[in-house]
Amino acid sequence: ADPDPLQDFCVADLKASASLNGFPCKPAEEVTSNDFFFDGLSKEGNTTNIFGWSVTAANVLSFPGLNTLGISMNRVDFAPGGLNPPHSHPRATETGVVIEGKLLIGFVTTSNVFHSKVLSAGQMFVVPRGLVHFQLNVGEEKALLFTAFNSHFPGSAVAPTTLFASTPPIPNQVLTKAFQVGEDTIKTIKSKFGS
Ligand code: GLV
Ligand code: MN
Repeated sequence: ADPDPLQDFCVADLKASASLNGFPCKPAEEVTSNDFFFDGLSKEGNTTNIFGWSVTAANVLSFPGLNTLGISMNRVDFAPGGLNPPHSHPRATETGVVIEGKLLIGFVTTSNVFHSKVLSAGQMFVVPRGLVHFQLNVGEEKALLFTAFNSHFPGSAVAPTTLFASTPPIPNQVLTKAFQVGEDTIKTIKSKFGS
């Protein structure tokens, strides 16, 4: 979904501040082959957390060679039972391929239709841009997923943390009304995210 670039490449100068549609290009004479390779997705992420999952991003910030090219990837590791919680990417459609394990993968349309399937190694999915989606490890073993995006910086709005762990917090009055529960329930949920 990113706009088309007007040059072969524009390796990001991360020391400069991001401006409209990306970072400025680092000077051509400083560009090397290393700018076009990245090994940050080779290592398993740490899944010791409340969701039992880990996302490692190869986006413009970690892999500056992607700047302006309209593409990026993630590595997602899952402990048994691990969940990549419901989230959406405001700037990209997502596709992915399961490398290892068994994942329940689903998204919800803006008409509230839920599409889902259990996938195993080699199988792919697509999540249309901006729609809320998740992956749950339903296998006995750990699982591994690689995802790809048509943006160098897809962004991620993670439903539980967006709603219950923002800074400053969303007033309880909003959340009790939105979810039709009492304030104690909202406080309990907020406490799980340390806020
Ligand atoms: C999976 O949903 C991901 O965003 O990598
Ligand atoms: Mn996603």
